[in-house]
Amino acid sequence: MTRVIAVANQKGGAGKSTVTTNLGVALGEAGVRTLVVDVDPQFDTTAMLGRDPQDVGGTIADVFLGESEAADVIVPDVFPGVSLLAGDGRMSDVELTLVSQVRREEFLAEALRDVGDRFDVVLIDCPPNLGLLTVNALFAAAEVLIPISMIDRNAYKGAATLLGTLETLRRRRVDIRTLGLLRNNGDERRNTYQTLDEALPALGAPILEATIPMRSGFHDATTEGVPLMVRRPDSRAAVAFRRLATEVLEAGVPADATLAEVA
Ligand SMILES: Nc1ncnc2c1ncn2[C@@H]1O[C@H](COP(=O)(O)OP(=O)(O)OP(=O)(O)O)[C@@H](O)[C@H]1O
Ligand SMILES: [Mg+2]
Repeated sequence: MTRVIAVANQKGGAGKSTVTTNLGVALGEAGVRTLVVDVDPQFDTTAMLGRDPQDVGGTIADVFLGESEAADVIVPDVFPGVSLLAGDGRMSDVELTLVSQVRREEFLAEALRDVGDRFDVVLIDCPPNLGLLTVNALFAAAEVLIPISMIDRNAYKGAATLLGTLETLRRRRVDIRTLGLLRNNGDERRNTYQTLDEALPALGAPILEATIPMRSGFHDATTEGVPLMVRRPDSRAAVAFRRLATEVLEAGVPADATLAEVA
């Protein structure tokens, strides 16, 4: 059964792309057939996985525009066990055209329906807003993983707003569960970390045990197109991502919770 997980938080810089990329690599490494889908017009995840939307022979934009099937543009094995449906700057325009479309929230769910069974886990990286692309990801997913930057005093507000949106979707009978809040940029010595850490339980969502430490290597890996998991496989950050991968796998899902049943 394929698990489809949206990595979302409308706060910019929460770590969505870093988490999608490195968790993807950690899952691939563990023998889990993983598809990373980049719906963010910034296409950071695509760049972090060392790919250029111009050179991959087709992107998520071509799929949304009805010009390609997802199966035809997925780039296999960008890293061991990790395939990529690449992002594209044109997704900003695509989002605008979606507004007037029928079933505009369901394009991604439809597009992934045929490829799902080739993968054990699909990770969808979302843009930093709650616009139609994020909503498409939430409709396609059965679970949402919410990275929270523990150095951002406003991170709490972003997560609270997203959790509110998830409640609204559930009222529309969209079956999505919160896989967990993920502490990113973790540095326990900082006051901000302590304050946020104490506040997180009040959000009423599960908090994952793995904490991703703050490491400058994440940024270097971004500019070089090689995820930290690959560049520094023995680092504490890599160990944290392997732990996260284990936790995600152990969380499992009921057999019927694959692509969300859309009302
Ligand atoms: N644990 C970390 N330690 C150090 N730097 C980090 C960490 N996580 C993310 N970063 C850096 O913070 C910046 C933002 O991270 P990232 O792009 O993953 O966030 P995002 O939520 O995807 O951002 P956006 O909202 O713009 O899509 C990047 O430069 C990244 O390298
Ligand atoms: Mg991002």
